[in-house]
Amino acid sequence: MKNIAVIYKSHYGTTKQYAEWIAEELDATLLERKAASPSDLLKYDLVIHGGGLYASGILGIDLVVKNPVNNLIIFSVGMANPETTDYTEIIHKNIPEGLREKTKIFHLRGGMDYGKLSIPHRGMMAMMKKMTIDKKSEAELTAEDIAFRDTYGGNIHFTDKATIAPLILYVRGL
Ligand SMILES: Cc1cc2nc3c(=O)[nH]c(=O)nc-3n(C[C@H](O)[C@H](O)[C@H](O)COP(=O)(O)O)c2cc1C
Repeated sequence: MKNIAVIYKSHYGTTKQYAEWIAEELDATLLERKAASPSDLLKYDLVIHGGGLYASGILGIDLVVKNPVNNLIIFSVGMANPETTDYTEIIHKNIPEGLREKTKIFHLRGGMDYGKLSIPHRGMMAMMKKMTIDKKSEAELTAEDIAFRDTYGGNIHFTDKATIAPLILYVRGL
């Protein structure tokens, strides 16, 4: 595929960083979600959408799930460890049936600096903590809960260029 766009939406930069690495490796056009419109999508053989994960929602995904795209790849960037996280619910929540089967999805790990979070995001994190890890016993905690607990309040980054390799290989194999 020759004509590729990488579209991304990021609040704190980790998704942007992955999108930049992917666009560079694939010699693709890099577009921020707010600069992309439905009429842009069909100009490309392949659109790769990357969005930060916020309360299980993939940022900016509406553009590519609600409008026609020739071929679509989605990557999410979250704090949870993709090696231990079950993304079934996230995929169901973000990608409609029919499109799910046709879309290749990758999950990458970002990071967070609590000191830099906006006030609403800090509030959301406190609420998520109250509703999940604070309510459960140690035995009830999932791998995602444990990662959340261990990183809460800190400045932790897992962003790693090497983890884009499976996505790059997949695209080169198309
Ligand atoms: C309010 C809030 C909600 C979040 N929800 C999730 C989540 O549901 N799952 C997850 O893995 N990470 C979650 N995160 C972590 C972000 O996905 C992570 O920091 C990511 O790297 C942010 O991407 P960005 O830097 O591109 O904005 C959340 C972070 C905030 C501040």
